[in-house]
Amino acid sequence: MLVLGIETSCDETGVALCDSEQGLLGHLVHSQIDIHAEYGGVVPELASRDHVRKTLPLIEQLLKQTGIEKQQIDGVAYTAGPGLVGALLVGAAIGRSLAWAWQVPAVGVHHMEGHLLAPMLEESSPNFPFVALLVSGGHTQLIAVQGVGEYTLLGESVDDAAGEAFDKTAKLLGLPYPGGPELARLAESGDPERFTFPRPMTDRPGLDFSFSGLKTFALNTWQSEKAAVDDEAALRQLQTDIARAFEDAVVDTLVIKCRRAIKQAEAKTLVLAGGVSANKRLRQRIQEVLAKEGGQAYYPRPEFCTDNGAMIAYAGLQRLLADQQEPLRFAAKPRWPMTELAAVNIG
Ligand code: KG4
Ligand code: ZN
Repeated sequence: MLVLGIETSCDETGVALCDSEQGLLGHLVHSQIDIHAEYGGVVPELASRDHVRKTLPLIEQLLKQTGIEKQQIDGVAYTAGPGLVGALLVGAAIGRSLAWAWQVPAVGVHHMEGHLLAPMLEESSPNFPFVALLVSGGHTQLIAVQGVGEYTLLGESVDDAAGEAFDKTAKLLGLPYPGGPELARLAESGDPERFTFPRPMTDRPGLDFSFSGLKTFALNTWQSEKAAVDDEAALRQLQTDIARAFEDAVVDTLVIKCRRAIKQAEAKTLVLAGGVSANKRLRQRIQEVLAKEGGQAYYPRPEFCTDNGAMIAYAGLQRLLADQQEPLRFAAKPRWPMTELAAVNIG
């Protein structure tokens, strides 16, 4: 079965073709960074308009590039939520309409399920059951995964998501949008000894997270230390050292909770996914900890950590193979708990 996947939930247009026998045949991502950069964050209306402009040409380009004819496509998967409603509606309307025109089934995919299953696109992929840490711009969740669609929420952020905290901290340090990757790049040359930030909610039992206080801690440090700095180089160093302290605190907190979660779930396998899983220090620390405990960590290649069409095509393929599909009516769900999804029995 050959599935076209369409992702338009936020500020990237992603399209991909995934086949049940041959795997991923191709994918394309168009990033809206240039559009939103001057506003310092995603402007929802501009995001929707750009998806309207880019989605169909990107699909045409993908078909041309892979040499696939539209008659060969057996199903269409589009991101149905969660995300920005206008942005979601573009992909959902295009995906549902193409499926109708081609007389093939369509399925609305949960964006975070897409992220969660993205490591399955790699050659070395995890087996069920496992614990997943989903860390993106909108979510920070620990989930016990028994199979596709069989998810138990173990813990989540009570306020900001980890990616959101990265972005907000980057912004207050004066770094350009998109802040998270920029802050991570800066942190690489930071002095880990200069500042120590708190590891929120690690001193009590449980698997929930809180990252909003960390952002305030960064702001207070930045403002109080900045006053004593009188040249550009020292200011840049201060920014770099705060970035390092912030990243270390987030990574440490995530690692501590991941260890707890795999113990609690009696799991040996941990999957990292979502935009923040592109973070080098997080990947490295999780790998080390799991290796020490006789377990194994899996994560997608960096381009499949952030939003892309490949993960949507893959997740949609699993559901279409299990004969799950939408009627002609379609919906966009800006909020959509992943635990509401139906199980998929595979193999
Ligand atoms: O999964 P994603 O592309 O979109 C959402 O579903 O939210 O995640 C985007 C988030 C942003 O907050 C971005 O700052 C963060 O992932 N991110 C990173 C890195 N790359 C992306 N955060 C820390 N380090 C990175 N290298
Ligand atoms: Zn995402």
